[in-house]
Parts: sequence; structure tokens; C-alpha cells
Amino acid sequence: MKLTLETGDLITLKTDALIIGVYRHKLTRNAELVDQASKGALSALIKGGDITGCLGEVAIFPAFPGITAKRLVVVGLGVEADGVLNFEAPLKAAIKSIYFVKTATIACLDWFDLQPEWIAEQVASQAIQVLEKTPDYKAKSQRPDWKQPKSFSLLVDEKTEDMTQAFAEGAILGKSCMLAKELGNAPANICTPKYMADLCIKLGASLKFDVTVFEEKALRKLKMGCFLGVAQGSKQPPYMVVMEYNGGAKDEAPVALIGKGLTFDSGGISLKPSKGMDEMKYDMCGAASVIATVAAAASMKLPINVVGVIGCTENMPGGSATKPGDILTSYLGKTVEVLNTDAEGRLVLCDLLAYAIDKFKPSMAVDIATLTGACVVALGNEYTGLFSTNEEMAMELLQAGENSLDKCWRLPLGRAYSKSLKSNFADLANIGTPGAGACTAAAFLQAFVGDTPWAHLDIAGTAWTSGKNKGSTARPVPLLVCFLRDLCH
Ligand code: BES
Ligand code: MN
Ligand code: ZN
Repeated sequence: MKLTLETGDLITLKTDALIIGVYRHKLTRNAELVDQASKGALSALIKGGDITGCLGEVAIFPAFPGITAKRLVVVGLGVEADGVLNFEAPLKAAIKSIYFVKTATIACLDWFDLQPEWIAEQVASQAIQVLEKTPDYKAKSQRPDWKQPKSFSLLVDEKTEDMTQAFAEGAILGKSCMLAKELGNAPANICTPKYMADLCIKLGASLKFDVTVFEEKALRKLKMGCFLGVAQGSKQPPYMVVMEYNGGAKDEAPVALIGKGLTFDSGGISLKPSKGMDEMKYDMCGAASVIATVAAAASMKLPINVVGVIGCTENMPGGSATKPGDILTSYLGKTVEVLNTDAEGRLVLCDLLAYAIDKFKPSMAVDIATLTGACVVALGNEYTGLFSTNEEMAMELLQAGENSLDKCWRLPLGRAYSKSLKSNFADLANIGTPGAGACTAAAFLQAFVGDTPWAHLDIAGTAWTSGKNKGSTARPVPLLVCFLRDLCH
């Protein structure tokens, strides 16, 4: 699918489908133009109830009078005063509705009062994410009619440099999100730790960033006892992958992104219940978001240094698995009593965080993990849980979340949570006292980051959707990409 910016007159455009928006009880500027050209046909349809303007409702009219486009697609934008909150749903719905045409043009720069470059980025990103499909592993396609347009355009007044760049970066963001979705959706018998490490090597070669893969032996040499303690019950060997993208100055400290890459989390000896256990194939979405974000930064050639570190393993029960009560020694030397083998993400991350900080002396570190069911209880599927020891970082991440429509909400750290991780036998226990599970998990990680500005994103509720539309969402890739780009300014 070709993505382009297109200039020209809305009324005389040659396209299979022209997409415009209408508010509830109000026309947009482009809708007014179409209404005039069609001698009031559009307002007549609104009056008759054929077009409601309700949020995300799509109506398609073949051979609409007064315009040259073969079809007019009218999407409802809801109440105008709701603003940017109403942007994504109609955009996605409209794009989805034209899957069968060869060429389509969207005229949406007049939706709400938003920055044109921001809109251009969203359009390119969603065109890719809505119209391209991740593999579904079915023997026969269930949607043989699903054809993708050959070209999809955004109608603009002028192809300025800023618009062109925003549109191109939106396409990169869209592709990076597709990569994250594909990895998340891949089952654990395909997406193994080795598969993830191999993918990083391939991406590094094509996008020009450095990749170092650490095998089990190297991890033992680094004394990553907690990470290895999680991995030891599985037949799949664990891998840590370090991705270094250097687009910034040579002497500039990198931003470190650390991802939890549990390709399957059975819970280990503290086995999870059967119901919904399949969803633990998504427990590598933190790592997938790091891979996708490094790939995006490299593709956009961002003037910044980024180091991505992911820890990939399975968490399985078995004769050699870590047992409740076992004591592991972390990379930092702190010992951890494993009171629940299902609290494994923090064991992987504590070694990765300490290593990334020790080795790369980053200006800041962000870890991303499907860390706790408690975060899903607290925030549901709307907001990613954000924890940070650094006010500036927290504000920047919150802002990036708003700007990228990939929001996070800050939750507390503090002495009470840290104290709840006391163990009678080791420096720390891997679970806290009951309650505030997302906070005690974050407090555990905090014990391994020292003074480095650090933030933790708990994406357990946002990385995938459950139920009928089960699938990976690519969150928080838009948030992370936005965060990195803001740091470049
Ligand atoms: N991967 C899970 C967290 C999770 C649960 C993500 C549900 C998405 C949906 C994590 O490894 C885990 O099992 N956490 C435990 C921690 C507990 C044992 C302290 C949890 O949340 O139950
Ligand atoms: Mn677990
Ligand atoms: Zn897990």
C-alpha cells in the first residue's frame, strides 16, 4: 500500500473513496464543500437520519452527486467540543470501511482543532495498522475479500516539509506497531526466546543498529542469578539482547529501555490457573515494545542514543525449576527470596536494569513490562501504570502519553511499599504484603536502579485486548516513540 500526501480540490478528486467527517448536528468545512457541490444532498441525508454524526458511525454512498470521487464515505465525529478524545475512533472506523477499494483519500485535517502535522502522523500510522494484518496462522484465509487499497492518501493544502516528515514518521510508527503486534500475537511455540534474539539480529542488520546477544553461559558469567533462576525450569534457553542505536552525539549518555520478554509465563511451580493461561504468551510485550521502539528510532534516524535491553525466557515448572523459598543472587549482589515463582518479571528486570545502568551509564532508564495483574485491577485497559523516582521523567512520559493517545497514569512508590518486601532470609522477598501489587512490584525494581532517573511502565492491562477481539495492541510503542522524539527537541 502506497501512502501519499495529495493536493487538489476535494470536489474534483479522482479516487475510489473520499472520506470526510461530520460532527453531530454540525458539518465540518469539507462536509460543507461537499454539501454545496451536491446542492444540499449531504444535509438532506443528515436530516433524513441516513447520516447521524455519531462517533465512529460510517455511511458509504456510491456515486454521490456533485463530486467526482466514486464513493463518499462519511464518518461521524461525535460532539465537536469533545475534541481530540474523539479523533481515533472515527479515523479507524473510516479507514476500516474502505478495505475493498483500490484508491482512497481522506480529508480529515478539518477534524476538531488539531495540529495538521499531528493529524498526518496519526493517519499514516493508522492506515497501516488498520489495513495491514498480522499473520493469523489459519490454514485458509477467513476473509478472502479483504483487499487492501493500492494507495491511501491524505488530502492537504500544501505538501510542506513538516507535513511530509510527519506523514513519513507516522508510517514508521505504524510499521513499528505492526511489528510489536506480530510478536505479541505469535504463539509461544513460535515466538521463543531464540526467535526474539534472531529477530533483533535481523532488524539490527537492516536498520543499522548494533545487536549483542547474550546466551546462558554469558548470563552466568555476568552473575544474573535472578534472570537465570526464572529461566532454569524451561527447555528453551534464555537470551538477553542488547540493541544500541547511536543517532546522537558520541559522548551523550543513552536512554535505556529495558523490556520484560517472557515468551510464556505459566507461573512456574506457583502455577497459574488454566483459565486464560494462553494469554501469557503476551508476557513478552514489554520486550516487543523495546524492539519496535529501537527500530522506529533507527528508521526515523532520531538524533539520540538509545540502548534497548530485553530479557527473553519462559517461566515453566519442572524438575529443575526454581522453588518457592529458593534464594537467588542478583547481578547487583543483593539476594532475593522467591516466595512466589509467578512474580518472575521483576526477577528478570532487576538483573537487566542493574546491568543496563552499570554498563551504559544511561541518562535515564525506562523499563516496560506486563508486570502485575494488580495493575489491570487498578487501571483496567485504559491507562498504563507509570512509576517514577524522577518528576521530570514522569511529566514527560505523562505528556507523551497524552500526545500519542497512548496514555499512562502515575501510581506511587514509597517506603511503605519497599518495606513490605522484607524477607527473613534474604535482602528482599520477590512479593510484598497483600494489596497494592503493582506498587510493591515497582518498589522491588526501585531497589535495583540506584540514583539513575528511572521510570517503570506496567503494561499488563494495555498491551493486549482479551475476549472476542483478542490481540496485541502494540502499546506502549506510540508512547515510547513520542517520548524519544520529544527528548530530541
Ligand atoms: N505476567 C504476570 C502479570 C500479568 C497478569 C499480566 C495478568 C497480565 C495479566 C506476572 O508475571 C505475574 O504473574 N504477576 C503476579 C505477581 C504476584 C504473584 C505477586 C500477579 O500479578 O498475579
Ligand atoms: Mn508471573
Ligand atoms: Zn509474567
